[in-house]
Amino acid sequence: MAKENIGFIGGGNMAEAIIKGLLKANVCTEKQLCVSDIRKERLDYLEATYSVKTFTNKKEMVKVCPIIIIAVKPQDVKTVLGEIKEEVSPSHLVISIAAGISTMFIESLLPQGVPVVRIMPNTPALALAGMSALTSGKAATTEHLNTANKLFKAIGETVIVPEKLMDAVTGLSGSGPAYIAVIIEALADGGVKMGLPRPVALKLALQTVLGTAKLLQDTNLHPAQLKDMVSSPGGTTIAGLQVMEKKGLRGILIDTIEAATKRSQNLGG
Ligand SMILES: NC(=O)c1ccc[n+]([C@@H]2O[C@H](COP(=O)([O-])OP(=O)(O)OC[C@H]3O[C@@H](n4cnc5c(N)ncnc54)[C@H](OP(=O)(O)O)[C@@H]3O)[C@@H](O)[C@H]2O)c1
Repeated sequence: MAKENIGFIGGGNMAEAIIKGLLKANVCTEKQLCVSDIRKERLDYLEATYSVKTFTNKKEMVKVCPIIIIAVKPQDVKTVLGEIKEEVSPSHLVISIAAGISTMFIESLLPQGVPVVRIMPNTPALALAGMSALTSGKAATTEHLNTANKLFKAIGETVIVPEKLMDAVTGLSGSGPAYIAVIIEALADGGVKMGLPRPVALKLALQTVLGTAKLLQDTNLHPAQLKDMVSSPGGTTIAGLQVMEKKGLRGILIDTIEAATKRSQNLGG
């Protein structure tokens, strides 16, 4: 269990998902969790729902929280760091989940030597099934990275990557939930075309995607092995696979991740 207080700056969707995960996984107690946000109603809601301590003054929160999680939108990061920089010291650990904001940028706005860990979570974190990639700044040690890793394991899986790969992470796991949502919708459309009622088609599509991912995760089977297992000679699956290959689905998905990664690079991540 974490011993330190953890303070969130920005109490929005992602902060709430992390708070929920930390409490559910018993990583810390609600007494250790603090939140500061410009929206008073958000603070009231979080305090009432999770019994966390809330602060309208973020400087006061930084004084009592050795771990600070920056969970505001990317465009608000500079303002927030400007507001807290005088209270932040190298004994803090600053974790940022702001998409596309580099550790170098964060370090440049804080006193020298403050350890910074940057994390890219994704939306399934809201269902505690997230995928978070972590990378460390100049002053962060392995211990800092491990601390951040433990916290984010509470909302799903984690990987540690060099910062130069963060754009590819954004392109794959960050944007990925949108692509999978489109695939699920399209599978359901196919079912509807072939006569299934919409709610039934959607349920079949959703559970097939979820179940396939879980089976691959549980068994460590390579996706190609699973595809071969399901494709009997002259059967239905191979007939469908032929269409996927002819229409170039693999190429489409590879190009999709490439386009999203390049967009992230252009945004300056
Ligand atoms: N949601 C995701 O799936 C996801 C995935 C990966 C990374 N992220 C990153 O996570 C971060 C948070 O995303 P989110 O979806 O949780 O955003 P969000 O719901 O908009 O939460 C941010 C909260 O911070 C508040 N805020 C704005 N400026 C502030 C300030 N100066 N001081 C204190 N609080 C302030 C916002 O208030 P207002 O609404 O009034 O501005 C809002 O309540 C973003 O940087 C995003 O890039 C999110």
